[in-house]
Amino acid sequence: MALLLTGGTGFIGSHTAVEFIQAGYDVVIADDLSNSSADVVDRIETITGVRPAFAQADMCDADAVEKIFAEHAIEGVVHFAGFKAVGESVEKPIDYYRNNLLSTLTLLEVMKRFGCKVFVFSSSATVYGENNPIPYVETMPAGGCTNPYGWSKFMNEQILTDAAKADPSLSVCLLRYFNPIGAHESGLLGDDPSGIPNNLMPYITRVAKGVLPKLSVFGNDYPTVDGTGVRDYIHVVDLAKGHLAAYKYAAEHTGTEIFNLGSGRGTSVLELVETFKRVNGIDVPYVIAPRRAGDIAEFYADASKAERVLHWRTEKTVEDMCRDSWNWEQKGAQKR
Ligand code: UFG
Repeated sequence: MALLLTGGTGFIGSHTAVEFIQAGYDVVIADDLSNSSADVVDRIETITGVRPAFAQADMCDADAVEKIFAEHAIEGVVHFAGFKAVGESVEKPIDYYRNNLLSTLTLLEVMKRFGCKVFVFSSSATVYGENNPIPYVETMPAGGCTNPYGWSKFMNEQILTDAAKADPSLSVCLLRYFNPIGAHESGLLGDDPSGIPNNLMPYITRVAKGVLPKLSVFGNDYPTVDGTGVRDYIHVVDLAKGHLAAYKYAAEHTGTEIFNLGSGRGTSVLELVETFKRVNGIDVPYVIAPRRAGDIAEFYADASKAERVLHWRTEKTVEDMCRDSWNWEQKGAQKR
């Protein structure tokens, strides 16, 4: 029996593939390579000593998905594949809804035909929207999203919840990620966005490397510890281990469970920049810039449910995240 990791050559998918393989699972990676590269499969093999099966496939393509299920005995799906750029989703909402929703629907249909009953979904803290108090708890009402990317996560959660209601033998885990950064400590896997990065850590590493001149800190007048935005950063290897714990749980239960995957601690933009400078001994020039549209001041997870139910919690520190991100930028990152 094998596990299908869709989007398995991407940032979070590739780290999760490593953790599953190291735990003894047989892994099949499917990715259309629209935002990642096939040599990630080689890198996963270098780290684990095991080469996962790989299919270049779009999860919206029912024939391609069917072929994967026909060729491998898939016992469960961890669905990472999707478009993920918040700003782009505002420009191209139809593309985002088509891709991010149709892939889930296609997987559910094919899973049904093949009797596959476990679905772990890559959701986001963005589904808590703008109106919930912090820390975010899984029981809070979701919605109030600020962009089509966020709504596509919210809608996928609804689709999966309804599918599990209609089929009592189905098991669904909705994993709400906070802010994944860091990289594999080998320097072989990490976040490698093409073009100018939207997210904070890849921007910091490229400024440190001299590829970009300076970081713009978006706002220093928020009601936070130092006026800059506060987020719950989680090391991608901890996040990957959270998937392993969630999958094991899902394989033994039915119905839908939601888990926050975060550290439960907030870090401001300037705290992250200062930590990066200190642990790596390198400067990161920055300027204070206006607030970015759609940003909220501060959010972090109540991470207690995952600890209680999955016996998982984050182990790595913000220092680890800064060190590993910089190691990756120097050794592994390629697209420029
Ligand atoms: N920031 C800067 N300068 C930059 C980039 C970011 O100051 O160049 C700040 C932002 O204003 C924010 C913080 O750094 O305060 C983090 O920003 P990111 O873009 O790294 O992350 P976000 O919290 O905005 O978004 C992330 C994911 C989304 C997800 C969201 C909610 O990228 O996919 O968390 O979970 F929807």
